[in-house]
Amino acid sequence: MKKIAVLFVCLGNICRSPAAEAIFINLLEKKGLTDAFIVDSAGTGSWHIGKKADSRMRIAAERRDINILSRARQITCEDFEKFNYILAMDNSNFQNIQDFKNRSPSSDFALIKKIQNFRSVFNEQEVPDPYFGGDEGFDHVLDILEDSVSCFLDSIS
Ligand code: 4NP
Repeated sequence: MKKIAVLFVCLGNICRSPAAEAIFINLLEKKGLTDAFIVDSAGTGSWHIGKKADSRMRIAAERRDINILSRARQITCEDFEKFNYILAMDNSNFQNIQDFKNRSPSSDFALIKKIQNFRSVFNEQEVPDPYFGGDEGFDHVLDILEDSVSCFLDSIS
């Protein structure tokens, strides 16, 4: 059976989207669905390419037994034909993804959505950027994402 490919996207690809990717991978493992999916994350920006996720996010996730293993990369044209779903963390990422797609010879294959379209428990319509804030911001991002990422999976399976 063809795998479902899901790409989570934020600005730097070192805080929110690697966390969403790791939460999703963790959830798939728990549900025995790992083999049915391809999961990745990317940033719209290029500043952090090749870096591990921010240590504050990795530590906050490890407290929940979630390992963030990804290295930052920037979104590419090929992503629009490889991934079934491209899930933006906030409005700005969503707009930047659309702009990038419109500027480049990209496919219309991927469905581009905001991850918070799938929220149920939290009211936030965007995943807030925790990068310039305190440690509690990272936990809040994880709380929000555990809700919306799980609802996203429910919506497609
Ligand atoms: P992210 O957070 O988009 O969730 O990875 C950020 C990481 C780095 C920067 C901004 C946001 N930055 O300005 O370097």
